[in-house]
Amino acid sequence: MITKSIKKDFPILSRKVGKKQLVYLDNSATTQSPKVVIDSLTDFYTNHRANVHRGIHMLSEESTVMYEQSRKTIAHFFGVTPSEMVFVRNTTEASNLVAFTFLQTLKKGSTVMISEFEHHSNLIPWQIACKQLKLNFKTAPVNSEGELDLNFIKNSDFSFIAINHISNFLGNINPVHKIIEIAKEKKAYVYIDGAQAVARVPLNFKKLDCDFYSFSGHKIYGPFGIGGLYVKKQILESMPPFMTGGGMIVDVGIKKSSFLKDSEGYDAGTPNVGGSIALASALDYVTQVGIKEIAKHEHAVLTYMYESLLKVSGVEIYGTKKVSNRAGLVSFNLKGVHSHDLASILDGEGIAIRSGTHCVIPMHKKLNISSSARASLALYNFKEDVDVLIEGVKKSKKILGGYNV
Ligand SMILES: Cc1ncc(COP(=O)(O)O)c(C=O)c1O
Repeated sequence: MITKSIKKDFPILSRKVGKKQLVYLDNSATTQSPKVVIDSLTDFYTNHRANVHRGIHMLSEESTVMYEQSRKTIAHFFGVTPSEMVFVRNTTEASNLVAFTFLQTLKKGSTVMISEFEHHSNLIPWQIACKQLKLNFKTAPVNSEGELDLNFIKNSDFSFIAINHISNFLGNINPVHKIIEIAKEKKAYVYIDGAQAVARVPLNFKKLDCDFYSFSGHKIYGPFGIGGLYVKKQILESMPPFMTGGGMIVDVGIKKSSFLKDSEGYDAGTPNVGGSIALASALDYVTQVGIKEIAKHEHAVLTYMYESLLKVSGVEIYGTKKVSNRAGLVSFNLKGVHSHDLASILDGEGIAIRSGTHCVIPMHKKLNISSSARASLALYNFKEDVDVLIEGVKKSKKILGGYNV
């Protein structure tokens, strides 16, 4: 069981915002790091910093071993081999990497499908790549609660589908197992954007049997600037390179070069060595706490947050009404109040939430709203944090007077 003492692992949570205690509920934007992760970053820069795969001196050897060990830890955490775990800066880089490499291998005129409620980073790269490569671009519709039309997907022709595992706007957990099953029947490839899922759902990419799965380290208690992209071995072997240069070659000639055909083939230039080491230590931390425990704990707090917000008159919640199909976050509006005004009043109470369109403008347009407020959870949030949020929302209602209190 996760107890409140876990908050002590995260130095930033003891911060004050003005005179108020920080209540951090913006975890879908980024999670906070425990001290062990910060320490591992400091240790690397203090004691081991050197470039990798390039020197034979002791520091370079140490740094290389630590870097490759971190790839092993990260790959094993998700049930795959290190040669299938490509390092990227973040989820956005992962979708761009696949869009501008793998999509080249599809036949002209093939169809790429996404859903109507993707984060812009799981939309724009496919939009642009499809245009450049003369591929068709199709979107699978969702209803007003963000539930995917699986029949549409089943009855459509496509060669590649990119879909979020958990929506960063609506919090819906998508039926990725079903989507993978449908895609396999069509011999289509599946890319899953796991930015919101990795810290909330126990995952084994091999068992899931998707072709690509992407995530950002900063959304699973790791540092900024490092993330992962799982690519199935057989695909990686025939995928064209993305960034090119040092560190990803087999041989180089003036007119022609050959490249590594595994995860290191996507390591052009000096990698984020400290970042990958700190990400591995974040995953070790998650393993120690237990991802199943985290999922259970977060879902209990989420249910409480959803139900508490529902009870506040004037609050409109977006996403599925089936709370068992939701994870980690609730987006909502207070009638007559702009989400930025609400977030600003809450900030005065020490509460950090997100407001705006959360990089999901098309779905906001579909719901006919200009913006929304989003409260999102992590393993260190408890019902007490939700109580502070609810008091803050009620206070905002009084101050802003948008709704008849
Ligand atoms: C579902 C989803 N996909 C992609 C991203 C992009 O992540 P990053 O900014 O780390 O690249 C986010 C970030 O919020 C997200 O929630």
